[in-house]
Amino acid sequence: MKKVLVTGGLGFIGSEAVICLIENGYEPVIIDNLFNAKVAVLDRIETITHFRPKFYEVDATDEEATEKVFAENEIDAVIHFAGYKAVGESVEKPLEYYENNLESLIVIAKCMKRHNVKNIIFSSSATVYGVPSRVPLYESDPVAEATNPYGETKVMIERILKDLQKADPTLNVGILRYFNPIGGHPSGLLGEDPNGIPNNLLPYVSQVAIGKLKCLKIFGDDYPTVDGTGVRDYIHVVDLAEGHVATLKKLEENPGYVVYNLGTGKGTSVLELVHAYEKANGVKIPYVIAPRRAGDVAENYADCEKAAKELHWRAKFTIEDACRDAYNFQKNNPEGIK
Ligand code: UD1
Repeated sequence: MKKVLVTGGLGFIGSEAVICLIENGYEPVIIDNLFNAKVAVLDRIETITHFRPKFYEVDATDEEATEKVFAENEIDAVIHFAGYKAVGESVEKPLEYYENNLESLIVIAKCMKRHNVKNIIFSSSATVYGVPSRVPLYESDPVAEATNPYGETKVMIERILKDLQKADPTLNVGILRYFNPIGGHPSGLLGEDPNGIPNNLLPYVSQVAIGKLKCLKIFGDDYPTVDGTGVRDYIHVVDLAEGHVATLKKLEENPGYVVYNLGTGKGTSVLELVHAYEKANGVKIPYVIAPRRAGDVAENYADCEKAAKELHWRAKFTIEDACRDAYNFQKNNPEGIK
């Protein structure tokens, strides 16, 4: 396996995966519609790796354009990151979420079929477990009804890929359920660069740290957790990227349909994360306690032993590393990547 099509390859997670692929001797081919990414990320990938991957400004829902990319490149595997990902927005615009996320997967699957491509890794999410009845979460836990349309697209795509693999047992499908990706490239060149005011915790904290936002709102301090604030499994994006390379290697063994949690196996509360951020970067993060956010759960973290055993992969970076790399990126790019 050599040439890997990376959809959404200029995004926060996709760009780190591209770097990791290059560092491991793969040749990524990127498609991205630049909806939530900047073309300058390509220059930064080149600065870091000294290799400029092929890039197409293509929307994965555009079958004709995507087909052309498959025709021009002998693709061995696909890593499908492209998709809409904002939970709140998905509740307001369910049609856009179902159309975009499902359509792109279907287009990719059709192109793979036409070009006899037998390997795909899909960016799924811990959201497919719904409201957990206990933690940690195991891959064998039931996939529940998701609490929002974004999550539902992840559930549906997992299902579609499972059916496709059943119909064609020579297909290899790696479903990766991400917990909470944070951090950035240790160079400070790449990181999370959301459009508008961040929804997720770490990019919000980073914008408070540089004074762009005034104060963090902590959504609830009355959960049944260590200090009352929500607990999540935050994983450094570089560790997450490495999980993809490990999965590609696994797919070379023709395993069929495989599912892995990618997390650290350790829960961290909002307050613990804020304190780790302050300590790692020597900054102060002003915060207030606000009401709980609708749809949030108290605690969510992964059991990661399956990935450790079968992929020989474990998250290596600490929360402090992730806080340092997130801050470094934010400081260097106060207005995001231009
Ligand atoms: C969210 C999504 C999840 C998605 C993931 C992508 C929801 C319900 N879930 O996870 O489906 O896969 O993002 O990374 O949105 N918090 C604050 N103040 C803030 C922001 C967050 O206190 O300004 C708290 C939250 O209440 C939560 C924790 O920080 O306890 C993490 O929140 P967030 O970063 O938004 O991630 P999740 O909600 O876990």
